[in-house]
Amino acid sequence: MTRIHLDHAATTPVARQVLDEMLPYLTITQGNPSSVHGSGRVARAAVDAARDRIAAVLGCAQREIIFTGSGTEADNLAIRGVLERWGPERGRHLVVSAVEHDAVLETARHLEATGAATLTVAGCDSDCRISPGSVAAAVTAETVLVSVMAVNNETGAVQDVAAIAEAVHRRNPATLVHTDAVQGLGRIPLDPGALGVDLLSLSAHKIYGPKGVGALWVRHGVALAAQNTGGGQERNRRSATENVAGIVGFAAAAELAERVRPKEAERQTALCDRLIAAVEAQVPGAIVTASGARKAAGFATFAIAGARSDVLLTALDMDGVEASAGSACASGAPLPSHVLRAMGYPDELAAAALRCTTGRSTTPAEVDAAAAVIAGAVARIRDRAGAHPAGVGG
Ligand SMILES: Cc1ncc(COP(=O)(O)O)c(C=O)c1O
Repeated sequence: MTRIHLDHAATTPVARQVLDEMLPYLTITQGNPSSVHGSGRVARAAVDAARDRIAAVLGCAQREIIFTGSGTEADNLAIRGVLERWGPERGRHLVVSAVEHDAVLETARHLEATGAATLTVAGCDSDCRISPGSVAAAVTAETVLVSVMAVNNETGAVQDVAAIAEAVHRRNPATLVHTDAVQGLGRIPLDPGALGVDLLSLSAHKIYGPKGVGALWVRHGVALAAQNTGGGQERNRRSATENVAGIVGFAAAAELAERVRPKEAERQTALCDRLIAAVEAQVPGAIVTASGARKAAGFATFAIAGARSDVLLTALDMDGVEASAGSACASGAPLPSHVLRAMGYPDELAAAALRCTTGRSTTPAEVDAAAAVIAGAVARIRDRAGAHPAGVGG
């Protein structure tokens, strides 16, 4: 059975040309970038070149990029590094949005629970949009950092990060603004300077690069406390021997993602529109989530009454369609989505999220077939439960 993979927001395969660039650094070159010998210098040059390439994609200075081991680590470094460095002077208050990925939300909650920070969680509207005014209203004289994501990983909603950063800085010029742009790279234009943020997180494996590599962009002049101490790599901001092949792969993937973005954004938006129309036509009562928001290309997201996510995903998997509930980490556990909850959905619907995310290989025939599979699975699940969504026949 050929499988239809509609879970590209969870991760993506490494693109062939990305792998080709990585391979010599896995097999031939043996250098540690910190070694003074020739092999070490080759590895150092590869890391330096990769930093230049990512800087060119973002339109920033290469010294503003810190390579990390993941998007999660970049988020942790941003939040913990700013809090530790600036908290004693500027205050220990954090503001994060209610729809952040757990890498931000759980980190902020943990810091609050341990007494390291105070926390305000800013809400969103029913379309997953976070208003600049509500974020700025949460900022006080003690607010050291605000973190609001660029693209929501459960709904694809694009936040107006530039307006949020401007509103926050107007309210308190000393407050730093971080954006988790892990789902933004390759989907929307990302220029940290134009966004007006101070820190921005990225991850390679969402853009056809390898897993286990991320980056934190930090505006020149913004100091933060290292969370990995040791050999002083990454200008003392993240000690660890550099993942040379991974970093090279990240740079190749970022360039490729930026090159194909205009065409893929258009193509995948059309694919998602087609999938949404087919699901709406074939699944009575299916709600398209965040439909009023500006959405990043590649997201078709639903809440389907009477079809709990874990049950539906298992049924789809058996029928050859791979999708997810919300974030990859949450699927498998029948917990209501914190994002849909923040959007005002009752628990029953928040536990019935379906996220389909397209990729470069997705075809119109696949989305048509997936819609039919989804419709069949939902009908069977509803029939078994003897339940139909309120006010919906069939
Ligand atoms: C918005 C967002 N932030 C952070 C992460 C974590 O990135 P990584 O998997 O590289 O740790 C993800 C991954 O799902 C994400 O979607």
